[in-house]
Amino acid sequence: MPVTRLPQSRRCLRTLALNSRQRQWTADQDINWNQDIVRPNWLLRRFHGAMISQFRHGELITIKICRHLLDVVTEPGVKELLIQQIADEERHAEVYRRYLEKLGDAAPLDPSLAHAVERIIQWQGSYLGLIVAVHVLLEGEALRTLQDLSDEMPCPLFSQMNKLIVRDEARHVAFGKVYLRQRLANLGLDERMAIYRFVKLLWCESTGGMFLEFRITGIVTQSLRRRWVNEGWLQHRRSLTDIGLLNAQDMARA
Ligand SMILES: [Fe+2]
Ligand SMILES: [Fe+2]
Repeated sequence: MPVTRLPQSRRCLRTLALNSRQRQWTADQDINWNQDIVRPNWLLRRFHGAMISQFRHGELITIKICRHLLDVVTEPGVKELLIQQIADEERHAEVYRRYLEKLGDAAPLDPSLAHAVERIIQWQGSYLGLIVAVHVLLEGEALRTLQDLSDEMPCPLFSQMNKLIVRDEARHVAFGKVYLRQRLANLGLDERMAIYRFVKLLWCESTGGMFLEFRITGIVTQSLRRRWVNEGWLQHRRSLTDIGLLNAQDMARA
């Protein structure tokens, strides 16, 4: 398959792999587990548990799809990045598990997220669609949420975990974007449109249904939720244009 702009993107991927090797951390050595959990007044304890649980489930979903991608991609440098990412996600899942062990109130996978996972697994189009769904949408959304929470959560234990996890997630999103920018340039418009429709549906179905059992006045009101969903989609649309999936004109027709 012809590859455009390979030298530059390969350099970027090498830098990311090097960065990953140099910035390793462990749950035991880099996090002080003796710290207490501090819960802000606005956060119900049950919602706290449900939110951290969904982060953990998101990590497990990402591991599953990265393992599948390992069987599909052929470039050794990309395989190395996926192997590094799986190790990162396993560490994140373990950190969230330990935090939940202290907090209690672990929750099962949210039904709307479970539905999104089913849809991702059943995707029959180009494997690039999986990378768009996981690295740009799912991880991009996790990064957006974690960055917002870093200002809102006064919990020192969460802050310590969050800083380390955000650093890894930013690298995973960067990997997806660099790789997709290079690969999507070789994909026809019909396939790119199909990927766009796929991720848009994932976004609408999963964000519309998350945490619906929680009604917290002033925090998870319908209007606030709507604004969060709309702002998020605008941000993700910019990323989708940036990686060369579709321009605004084609998005309007998709
Ligand atoms: Fe992660
Ligand atoms: Fe990640």
